[in-house]
Amino acid sequence: MKPEGKTAADTVAQNAAFHRLADDEPVWLFGYGSLIYKVDFPYIRRRPACITGWQRRFWQGSEDHRGVPGRPGRVVTLVEAPGAECGGVAYQVAGRVFRSLDVREKNGYLRLWVPVRLAGGDAVDGLVYIAGPDNPAFLGPAPDAALVRQIAAARGPSGSNREYLLKLAAALRGLDEDDSHVYALETMLRNGPGRVDP
Ligand code: SIN
Repeated sequence: MKPEGKTAADTVAQNAAFHRLADDEPVWLFGYGSLIYKVDFPYIRRRPACITGWQRRFWQGSEDHRGVPGRPGRVVTLVEAPGAECGGVAYQVAGRVFRSLDVREKNGYLRLWVPVRLAGGDAVDGLVYIAGPDNPAFLGPAPDAALVRQIAAARGPSGSNREYLLKLAAALRGLDEDDSHVYALETMLRNGPGRVDP
């Protein structure tokens, strides 16, 4: 279930108000983007995992990490896709960790409870950060070549957008994840956006 109404540009207050978590409560978090490879938070357990009904897409603008206001980068969000499987990593964290995660994911991402399948078969409920189409930073679909041009050009406080894509692709490969969207963008980026068909 998502909070009612429009998503704020900064979602920290919305997330904190919607899911009240006790500081010591162990909670599963499902990560599918930078949360797979940039683990700057404490966790109790970490397991490869997947969720059903969602697809990873470079459709979210980033004005706080991989771009700046007026020159956003592109980062991943999840888009509903019945039957699709999305692989990532699940972390069991203490409830208090969401205070810093909410700040990290504040540019349009709302937490949502989803069923998560852990490697090995265990099923748990976990929180996932999703930036929906109603958030002000949402950019939506574009031809791959346009996505790559934007990614190649963007940079923000967390580094280049290029690095975000390459690290994500490498991490997904390490998980044996089949993600044609991410790998196609990675290949185009490595070939150079100038050599991409319009
Ligand atoms: C995630 O990794 O689960 C959310 C999107 C991101 O921070 O890249």
